[in-house]
Amino acid sequence: MTPSTDNKKIAIISCSTRVPRVNPYISTYIQSVVAPLAPSNVSFTILDIADQGLPLYDEPAVPSTFPPSDPTPHYAHAHTRAWSSVISSYDGFIFVTPQYNWSVPASLKNALDYLFYEWKGKPAAIVTYGGHGGNKAAEHLRGILGGLRMQAAATNVLLPIPVRTFMQTLQEHGKVPEDQIKVWREAGVEDRIQESLEQLVQLLQQPPAEK
Ligand SMILES: Cc1cc2nc3c(=O)[nH]c(=O)nc-3n(C[C@H](O)[C@H](O)[C@H](O)COP(=O)(O)O)c2cc1C
Repeated sequence: MTPSTDNKKIAIISCSTRVPRVNPYISTYIQSVVAPLAPSNVSFTILDIADQGLPLYDEPAVPSTFPPSDPTPHYAHAHTRAWSSVISSYDGFIFVTPQYNWSVPASLKNALDYLFYEWKGKPAAIVTYGGHGGNKAAEHLRGILGGLRMQAAATNVLLPIPVRTFMQTLQEHGKVPEDQIKVWREAGVEDRIQESLEQLVQLLQQPPAEK
């Protein structure tokens, strides 16, 4: 990858919120794969939707009607202003989400709906997991990101998981165990993570889209 000179901050967004959940383990695994592959000016932070204190969407105004250059002070609620500041501080995103009933979890849609210009024009990569990898969630998320005028990396990363046993396995090992990583690696998952990351870095190097 050809590094650009500016520092770029990527949030790896943990998109489910129930307790317990698989998500933090998979987000940590994704961070462990992307961090060594990325140019040195690109940094990664795990950002957990569960920590943001967002209730079900409760803003009285439509986010896309606010001033594009500084929407943050215009939100009615402190939780939205805080979320707006957090997302404004990142240059791009890796969404790590399970598939719930053939789509994304409500927690992710809710967190996305709260904002508009904070997302608009920014690049994003899509990582999903589920019994068959969560491709329906990936395609729904791609559509939602299109509505937010984000630039999604072309390659979806799909992680098939053994749904019935995975939570217990993760709790026993404290991380995604090496034999599961081997299964994913042999199925080409890490090649797709690298491909998606390269697309994300490429998108980061383009001039920001007009608000
Ligand atoms: C409400 C709900 C709906 C689900 N729907 C699907 C589904 O459509 N396809 C699938 O492969 N797995 C589905 N699953 C299984 C999840 O992929 C699996 O439980 C995963 O661990 C959920 O991620 P989380 O632990 O981070 O919440 C569903 C799980 C839940 C809780």
